Formats: sequence, C-alpha cells, structure tokens
Amino acid sequence: MFSSRFRARRIRGKEVFRRMVRETTLSANDLIYPMFSAFGSGIRKEVSSMPGIFQQSIEHIVAEAKEVHGLGIPAVILFGIPETKDAVGSDAYAEHGIIQETIRAIKREVPGLAVITDVCLCEYTDHGHCGIIKNGDVDNDATVKLLAREALSHAQAGADMVAPSDMMDGRVAAIRQTLDNNGFSHIPVMSYAVKYASGYYGPFREAAESTPQFGDRRSYQMDPANRLEALREAQADIEEGADIIMVKPGLPYLDILRDLRNEYAMPLAVYNVSGEYSMIKGAAANGWIDEERVVMETMLGFKRAGADLIITYHAKDVARWLKGGI
Ligand code: PBG
Ligand code: ZN
Repeated sequence: MFSSRFRARRIRGKEVFRRMVRETTLSANDLIYPMFSAFGSGIRKEVSSMPGIFQQSIEHIVAEAKEVHGLGIPAVILFGIPETKDAVGSDAYAEHGIIQETIRAIKREVPGLAVITDVCLCEYTDHGHCGIIKNGDVDNDATVKLLAREALSHAQAGADMVAPSDMMDGRVAAIRQTLDNNGFSHIPVMSYAVKYASGYYGPFREAAESTPQFGDRRSYQMDPANRLEALREAQADIEEGADIIMVKPGLPYLDILRDLRNEYAMPLAVYNVSGEYSMIKGAAANGWIDEERVVMETMLGFKRAGADLIITYHAKDVARWLKGGI
C-alpha cells in the first residue's frame, strides 16, 4: 500500500494544483435543455412543481431557444402539449402538429441550435399512456408503427435528432428503417435505452400534462431493482442502430451509467429528470442547500459516472455558472 510519505493534502493545497489534477470536466457542450411547447399564443405558464420551467407557446419557445444558443448550449429536446388529445395520439405525427411547427420555428430563427425531439405518444393520447391501448395494456407493435411515423414527421419538419422515450420493443429498428427509407439516413437516434418506471417523473407529468389516466407504466418501463436488464436493453438498442444511448433517471441510477460506460464504446447520455430538479429547487428555495454548489456537484457526478451528455432543466444556470469558472 502507500508509504507514510504519501500525503494526499499536498496536491490539494492550492487551487492551481487542484485544477491541474482534476479528473473530470464539465462544459456547456455537455448539456441538453428540455422545453415544453404548448399550442396557442401568448402562453408562458410556470410549472408549479418546477420553478423556472415553463409551458410556452411557440414565440416564447423561440425566444428562449435564442437565449439557450447564446449560452453555448448545443441542443434542446422538445416536448409538445397539443391542442387536442385522442386515443391514438394523432397530433404526435400530424404534419402541422405542435412539435412539427415548433421545430420549423426554431430551425428558422435559431438554425445553429440542434433540435432533438422526444418521440412518444403519452403527451398526445387522451389516456396518457406511451402507446395505443389494446385489452387494457399498451400494444407494442401497433405503437411502434406510429412511433416510426412520428419520428419521420419530426425529421421532415427539420429535427436534427430524434429521441424515442416510449420503451416499446423494436422501436429503434423501426424508426431507423423508416428514416433510412425516406431520405433521412443522416438523422441520428438518441435512444432512451434504459428507462426505469420512476416516481421522479412526477413533476414532468404536470409539465407535459401526460399522467396516465389508469394504471401505471410498469408494463413497459424498467423495474428499478434491475441492473443486468439495463445491459440487455442497451445491447438491443445498439444492435437496432441507436447512435446515443441514455439512462433515465440520473441520480438513483449512477451505477447503471457506469456499467454502460464500461461495457459500450457509445456516446452516453443521462436524463437528470424533473423530480431530481424539483428536489434541488425546493431545498434551495428554503435555504437548506447552496443551489450552485449542489447542482455543479450533481453534474460532475454524472460526468464522473460516465455520461457524455446531460439532459437537464438546470442547463441554462449551469452554462452561466461555467462562465464564472467552476
Ligand atoms: C415521456 C417522457 C417522460 C419523461 C421524458 N419523456 C415521462 C414518463 O415516461 O412518464 C420524463 C422526464 C422528466 O421527468 O423530466 N415518455
Ligand atoms: Zn411516453
């Protein structure tokens, strides 16, 4: 082991030394900012459980997209709140659906910002599930067809990347094939490969108005107790053609992130989800924690565990704090 001459504090003694031996770095390039685009105009409604996060109509989305781009954040991920919902989530794959129009507006006004779209049906179905229902459960293969159609409509509207979050089997392959067959072989797929059935999505469901009206998502999202299953899910999506794989939520699943980092030479994303954000915001608002310190430590934790990309509602704050030097 170490001789008594080893003194850990020697190299910790000066800020300049700490900077020289720092093992993990964080940059605005690592960040993706989620946004909620609502049908209508003049809408800018704060999500009560997510201070600082808004449901916004397109003109406000564009204004914030400009701000995000100006902060050096490379990409946003978009969620839609449609005018109307139905049993098959029609707005999700409508040529002039809420997301399709939002993509067009952002690409027109802020072309340098990468637009990633969440591909799922739960924001568009009246029952709030991530697919279409048959015999009381989500019908996998019928849903996959609609998801491929949705991803294609996003690409046709100008999306730079698509991100399926539904957890149906075989959806990455179906999306990849549909994109390839229609002239979009250059559009990458970021797969929510490892997505757990989590209580941490609570505030998001308020933001996206996507709470299931019956049952829960346990028949398609993963059991939080499972670790090996994450390797199977990731393997399947990589074989089906995913370009980036994601783990979600973040903080309770850092072990999974590290497992995937060790197993696969793939770009790895983590989703620092709504409940993780709300807990920090709530504690900070009460003066119980130092928000900047805790957020930056959390971001470093994701990077240290192996994430290349962090999808986070804190992205704008993090980018600002980084300008001040970490
Ligand atoms: C939709 C979707 C969810 C999130 C991202 N895409 C919610 C869910 O599956 O219930 C969660 C994001 C968050 O909590 O911040 N499939
Ligand atoms: Zn969904």
